[in-house]
Amino acid sequence: MIMKLSFALLIPAVASYNIPAASRREILKKASAAAITVAAPGLAGAYDLPDLPYAFDALEPWIDAPTMKIHHDMHHQTYVTNVNKATEGKPAVDIVALQTDALAAGPGVRNSGGGHYNHAFFWDEMTPADKASKTKPSSALQSKINAAFGSTEGMKEKFAAAAAPGAVFGSGWCWVVVNGKDELEIVGTPNQDNPLMKGVKDEIKYPILGLDVWEHAYYLKYQNRRPEYVGNWWNVLNWDKVNENFDYVMKNHAGVPVRG
Ligand SMILES: [Fe+2]
Repeated sequence: MIMKLSFALLIPAVASYNIPAASRREILKKASAAAITVAAPGLAGAYDLPDLPYAFDALEPWIDAPTMKIHHDMHHQTYVTNVNKATEGKPAVDIVALQTDALAAGPGVRNSGGGHYNHAFFWDEMTPADKASKTKPSSALQSKINAAFGSTEGMKEKFAAAAAPGAVFGSGWCWVVVNGKDELEIVGTPNQDNPLMKGVKDEIKYPILGLDVWEHAYYLKYQNRRPEYVGNWWNVLNWDKVNENFDYVMKNHAGVPVRG
């Protein structure tokens, strides 16, 4: 039943979608610019859908092009549209800062603000497999990985268990975070929650990498085989970006900035 519903929602949307991302952004910017003259305070801080830093098919064969296009152009766009609605008329807040009190701000900010941050974070930590294979954890990060999990392989095993359907039931994310003791941990979050949101975990924790385990992230290629998707995903993880995230978090004890 869930599968039929997913496709029923996807197919008409795909068929009707034929405006290039760049053109759409122009339209949205023009619409926003026009609206600013009427309601300047809220729209002045409107969030944007960031471009992917690679082509839709760049992560093939591990993540397929149709999934990337639908995921970015439609799912992520919807989160951006809805967080802009949820924050309309309110003072502009950076998308990282918006996470902290997202639970108190209500479901619009929590779900769509979280969705915007999580996806913007996700796109930028991936890169084509030929480049990804040349990257690795920095020595500083590797020390933390070894201390927490024994080895990178040990971390991947624990990550696979934490991202499995039995651990993140339904839709959600799996993260490697820095906790309040500057140690690495693996945590799962439901829906579009993330560990930057106060109240989601026992304390605010700072993601350095995260994986979308919603069905929309993998269903076209992997169907119900989420563990296969989780295992393959490491092939497109850009450790250079994860190292950058780790350095930022260790220095600032704050959420990693994202585009958009
Ligand atoms: Fe997603």
